[in-house]
Amino acid sequence: MCLLLAQIHLSAQPSKHTQKVEALLAKMTLEEKIGQMTLYTTDWGSTGPTIREGYRTDIRSGACGALFNSHTTAFTRELQRIAVEESRLKIPLLFGYDVIHGYKTIFPIPLGEAASWDPAAAETSARVAAVEASASGLHWTFAPMCDVSRDPRWGRVMEGAGEDTYLGSRFAEARVRGFQGRGLGNTDAMIACVKHFAGYGAPMGGRDYNTVDMSERYFRDFYLPPYEAAVRAGAATVMTSFNDYDGMPASGNKHLLTDILRKEWGFTGFVVTDYTSINEMVNHGVAADDKAAGELAANAGVDMDMQGAVYQRFLAQSVRDGKVPVSQIDDAVRRILTLKMDMGLFEDPYKFCDPEREKRVILSADHRAKARDVARKSVVLLKNEGQTLPLNTKAKIALIGPLGDNQSELIGAWSGSGSGNDCISLLQGLTNAGGNVTFSKGCNVEGDDRSGFDAAVALARQSDVIVLAIGEMAWMSGEAASRADINLPGVQEELARALKATGKPMVVVLMNGRPLTIPWLAENASSILEAWWLGTETGNALADILYGAYNPSGKLPMTFPRSVGQVPVFYNEKSTGRPYDPNSKWTSKYIDSPNAPLYAFGYGLSYTTFSYGDPVVDKKAFSNGEKITLRVRLTNTGKYEGEETVQLYIRDLVASSTRPVKELKGFQKIRLKPGESRDVSFEIGENDLKFYRRDMTYGTEPGDFDLMVGGSSDQVKTIRVQLKP
Ligand code: BGC
Repeated sequence: MCLLLAQIHLSAQPSKHTQKVEALLAKMTLEEKIGQMTLYTTDWGSTGPTIREGYRTDIRSGACGALFNSHTTAFTRELQRIAVEESRLKIPLLFGYDVIHGYKTIFPIPLGEAASWDPAAAETSARVAAVEASASGLHWTFAPMCDVSRDPRWGRVMEGAGEDTYLGSRFAEARVRGFQGRGLGNTDAMIACVKHFAGYGAPMGGRDYNTVDMSERYFRDFYLPPYEAAVRAGAATVMTSFNDYDGMPASGNKHLLTDILRKEWGFTGFVVTDYTSINEMVNHGVAADDKAAGELAANAGVDMDMQGAVYQRFLAQSVRDGKVPVSQIDDAVRRILTLKMDMGLFEDPYKFCDPEREKRVILSADHRAKARDVARKSVVLLKNEGQTLPLNTKAKIALIGPLGDNQSELIGAWSGSGSGNDCISLLQGLTNAGGNVTFSKGCNVEGDDRSGFDAAVALARQSDVIVLAIGEMAWMSGEAASRADINLPGVQEELARALKATGKPMVVVLMNGRPLTIPWLAENASSILEAWWLGTETGNALADILYGAYNPSGKLPMTFPRSVGQVPVFYNEKSTGRPYDPNSKWTSKYIDSPNAPLYAFGYGLSYTTFSYGDPVVDKKAFSNGEKITLRVRLTNTGKYEGEETVQLYIRDLVASSTRPVKELKGFQKIRLKPGESRDVSFEIGENDLKFYRRDMTYGTEPGDFDLMVGGSSDQVKTIRVQLKP
């Protein structure tokens, strides 16, 4: 906490570049200032990088100060040369790119990494991504995505940390630390960009880009904290979201961009829009034309226009018309120039263009080893009937399924400049591990072609065990990839049913970008591993798990519904006035489905088993300013060494506004040998009990609280304590 305060304090100091920035600003024409506020994409064609002549002209004339989707030392050097040799003020360009879960060495999708419940793993992943991307001439990543989402239909759940505010906050901070490394200005550090501010993960119906509307109380309690955590961890830029919030699109929302972000949180970096989101305010119907949309954005606090060219085309006229004060423009340009100076680009505009480093670090053995380790940590064991897993390396495996020998999909969506060709397929991984494995595809992910079923079933019959690799295609999650149905696509479940009929044990390896509705598999598979998209080292990581070299320890960061009709379904719901009672019709429930999901938030098994003692506290009542210590004894009751994520939840029993039935407030990963026990303790203080009270002040209220501890949100042991008046 002290560290966080110190960071905020430091960033609020006048920058060491103030004089240089002011001197430069004084020389700039209004058009050149607006140029710094303009970001364009280059075109990355199938044969390599291209840039339309118009953009070259814009760089030369100072009409564009930053570019994205341009990488490699060769290409960025060429573009930078135009800026610093051919433009009047020689201001270097900033190069941005979506480096989300790796640049060339691809790590698990962020949702998968969140399943590790190990923020240090996400920090490692972001660090490796920054080391590689910065070596390729890049300065700025459009990550981390801090959008809480409780709707698995939304395709972009793959890019965040799932449904929880607390878990999401810890991952948001970790990713910022990873990207920004030892600090901006070092050649291996990238500027982080907190996105999508704000509320993008809550579109109605789970449909991407759709409206977001909720009470400010709900927004502040559940959706805002991860963005704030990332800002407080020092992220130097923030991206607006496409959606509206409370009747105003984020890119024109002064309440979000100025009142909350700058005034409440003390953010001093710059704000960039999402792709053409200023222009889209015309479609939203809050601006009559692009010029008016630009005025809304500039006055709300948007410093940089991504790709929309609204600022470039209209902002100077808006200033001349008296619609936007020039002070607003100057402030934006100060922030942008300061960051370029922080990066050291004025001293050496080519400092990130080092072809030797680029060659050395990209896909290095060290990076691949780290990717393999984070991938193993991200896998969640959902079922393991009769201890089917781990497998013996001598077991005759029938590897079946469209994703069993696939490389191209493994990098998932938003995979930087990663390539499937660098990926280890599951077949390759099992073979590398010395496995006895034969492959048959069975079917595709999509479509209704069943012609491969017979061969797959025949292979299964000759085997000791089936490993069935099924799921989604990578494109089925990510941006503009919402699904109304989140079942297994195509005939994959039918294939699973045909294989089940052989009577052989069946281990399902799921690869997908979101929670899926898999009640049949949950009932009928022997074992299920949720593997998300694990990236470059997929096959090796999965072989480590399947053969028991690594004992899985992931826990779900997002609830798996039984059916799409339950969505949104999440663990920290509020209690209704008629909480579910199986003996009463008139309580909150479905008549055709249980309320409980298929797999709850925080759920995940291990090859070993753990038991929890009853939690104890050092005092039953405490006051603001004091701490309570909760202790619980955890025992490894199984046969393998393993890691358990012990989770702490809290419920405020009576408050001035309704509170969730439980809220995650802490977690710890504990490794134990078979038979070993350990006391795990959590300190709970007033900060863990604060919320937005009836009058919207943030603080505690005295009364009773339930402290719950366990290995999943739906398996907890409870003890009651009191916060004294
Ligand atoms: C996405 C952003 C991304 C941007 C630039 C947009 O469509 O919403 O997350 O950073 O494109 O690629």
